[in-house]
Amino acid sequence: MTDVYAPFDPAFQADPYPAYRRLRDEDPVHRHADPPFWALSRFEDVWTAVRDHGTFSSASGLTFYEDEIGKLGLAPTIVMLDPPRHTVLRRLISHGFTPRRTAAMEDALRAFVRARLAEMRQREADGETVDLHRDLASPLPTFALAELLGVPEADRKRFDPWVAALTTFQDRGFDAAAMTEGPGVQAVAEMFAYFSGVIAERRARPGDDLISALTVAEADGERLTDWDVLGFCFVMVAGGNDTTGNLISHGVTLLSERPGQRAKLVEDPSLIPNALVEFLRLEGSVQALGRTTTRPVTVHGVEIPAGEKVMMLYGAANRDEREFGPSADALDVTREIPRHLGFASGVHFCIGSHLAKLQARVALEELLAAHPHLDVDRPRAKRIMSPFTRGWVSLPVHLGGRPGAG
Ligand code: HEM
Repeated sequence: MTDVYAPFDPAFQADPYPAYRRLRDEDPVHRHADPPFWALSRFEDVWTAVRDHGTFSSASGLTFYEDEIGKLGLAPTIVMLDPPRHTVLRRLISHGFTPRRTAAMEDALRAFVRARLAEMRQREADGETVDLHRDLASPLPTFALAELLGVPEADRKRFDPWVAALTTFQDRGFDAAAMTEGPGVQAVAEMFAYFSGVIAERRARPGDDLISALTVAEADGERLTDWDVLGFCFVMVAGGNDTTGNLISHGVTLLSERPGQRAKLVEDPSLIPNALVEFLRLEGSVQALGRTTTRPVTVHGVEIPAGEKVMMLYGAANRDEREFGPSADALDVTREIPRHLGFASGVHFCIGSHLAKLQARVALEELLAAHPHLDVDRPRAKRIMSPFTRGWVSLPVHLGGRPGAG
């Protein structure tokens, strides 16, 4: 544990919350020297900045690395565009990626979770380690995306190395070098080649899937280009997988450490949707993302010049007592949460939030019903190490509760 803001330090990454508190209380417009960037940590400041895309632009990337878009060798995707281009793209994508399309996946997701849980029970009965993250939380979003994009069953195994490469990218702190050298490059190249083929095929023979819907989406006479669709597929795989898996794993971890809170959800599963937001508030999958100032801006009397990187510390803002009261650090599954930054806010508000919440709800409903005493083996768990995201690589559990307990 450290109370110094040191985003590259494993001690900070293991428990960033004391440092976040110090920033909020003592240094709300923090200047980081190397690499040079600013960090906002209070809820109101982050909320205001992230909604002011005219001043805090996404067009130079979301990390504090210089020229990250250029280094990746990719054209900017939706998340790295400002209005007006962002508005056009977002509208077109929303035509295909509708809440109705998401809701229609519930039965398939539930069947997947039940099948996985049955396999995990068998593994535990055979004396093998059960890893909640590896065996359930991480595969579920990959399955959901494959369903959504209409990827045929036979091709689904091909997702695994791509997702693994993107996780490595996170584990290396989104350093572009991790994607421009080593196995990551090949994985991303393969993913692009694969999706390019799928897009061409769906343009020729449209089906009932999201890619087909995106290829025909039209607004004000505009249509998505192949690159737009490809870029969106990339952002969904990169931004929708680990984040959702970690929401589930964080939920399970938080509840396993707080049996009283868990008992409330077991007794009344209708509280689960609210609990998911509370998990995200306390242990956000996305802890921090950056913007670049387009003009000088003054916050709490400190002037941030134009052209500077400013990190939005969502994870710090979501625990701000000024917004959430004196119990901001505590888990309360019944807490009223009128606003939070777990999915950001403003024009880039997560477009996949419905899908993420659906998956996490189904996973938690099934887990709590079948394994209300599940115990997380914390000493053997392994975290992702990153200044930007928070979550797990491995989370061993005992489905029936702690061996020898009760
Ligand atoms: C718990 C799970 C998730 C979390 C915590 C999360 C978080 C976020 C955050 C914080 C942003 C804003 C980025 C910024 O500030 O620049 C974002 C945007 C985005 N997310 Fe998610 N996300 C999740 C799941 C998903 C899923 C399942 C998908 C799609 C399948 C998805 C697709 C996207 C896309 C496309 C954007 C960009 C939207 C835009 O720029 O207009 N996310 N997400």
